[in-house]
Amino acid sequence: MTHQIAVIPGDGIGREVTPAAVEVLESLEIDFEFVEADAGDAVQAETGEALPQETYDLAASADATLFGAAGDTAADVILPLRTAVDSFVNIRPAKAYPGIDAVRPETDLVFLRENTEGVYAGHEDRLTQDVSTLTRVVTESASERLAEFACEYVDGDDHDGFSIVHKANVMRETDGLFRDTVKSVADEHGVETEEVLMDAFATRVCLDPEQFDVVVCPNLAGDVLSDLAAGLVGGLGLLPSANVGPDRALFEPVHGTAPDIAGQGIANPAATIISAAMLLKYLGYDEASAAVHDAVEATLENGPRTPDLGGDATTADVTAAIIDRL
Ligand code: NAI
Ligand code: MG
Repeated sequence: MTHQIAVIPGDGIGREVTPAAVEVLESLEIDFEFVEADAGDAVQAETGEALPQETYDLAASADATLFGAAGDTAADVILPLRTAVDSFVNIRPAKAYPGIDAVRPETDLVFLRENTEGVYAGHEDRLTQDVSTLTRVVTESASERLAEFACEYVDGDDHDGFSIVHKANVMRETDGLFRDTVKSVADEHGVETEEVLMDAFATRVCLDPEQFDVVVCPNLAGDVLSDLAAGLVGGLGLLPSANVGPDRALFEPVHGTAPDIAGQGIANPAATIISAAMLLKYLGYDEASAAVHDAVEATLENGPRTPDLGGDATTADVTAAIIDRL
């Protein structure tokens, strides 16, 4: 069966790193059908819409989507695109690569972040000049869906279990429901879990990241703590991510459009190519996925490297080196 891959480069360096990742996928000689579509600042300037309906429809029907980055319109593009794939979990690996200057080179974590609710789906109000409020939404069904995914993830990827990070000692109803639901699904599946309060997690992961492996958390905690972990491994520039739904998924680097270097051909394509490796794994091409990971890792370690990593190579040089190693 031919898988259809939606390719949405977006703006800025998205237009440089996304084609690089497609080149890597094409070099694997897997029968993919790539369909490109527009989103972001440029298409908004042209048509008035940051996310044209046909781009949304493409993401909602393709087997997987590879997205680059959007500029000022990022929120108008990426939030609906996550809805288009009905994404309930955001997978964010934070791994320090050999040869990269990292605060904690031993870090190798994966965050499984709830992607639909919490404070981000809540309702904010300004009641009076003095008082504003926010309602937080946590449901048993979303917590269950995330926990089922986490159990499959640790089983399929050979992890011992996962940490549930929450603050249920204070937010007893919302984080309490999240914690109890995730824990009971894990128990049913015989998956080992430990509970860590989110503030304690922040300290412990900085001091000793090796004590954690797979981390399951509510939306806001996952957003903040995965960025913190990004700091431990050398910044956002190398981090991939996946937004997974029941039938399709969207893969993107964590970084943005990098206006300071856009158009110069020197953007680091690693985060997007690792995102493409996650896409391969999602579609069941485990061997090809591992091969791409290995080729990126070897290239980060031995070069060539783009200027952000202290080298003087171009995006094209790095992409060619990764394809050579494949
Ligand atoms: P950014 O991630 O675009 O850039 C931050 C710094 O990291 C810059 O110095 C940039 O040159 C560097 N950098 C990022 N990716 C790199 C790469 N692949 N290779 C080499 N260097 C890299 O974040 P910033 O500057 O906060 O945002 C710029 C624009 O991107 C904004 O318009 C923002 O809205 C948008 N953005 C979009 C996102 C998305 O589409 N998912 C995510 C984050 C920001
Ligand atoms: Mg964030």
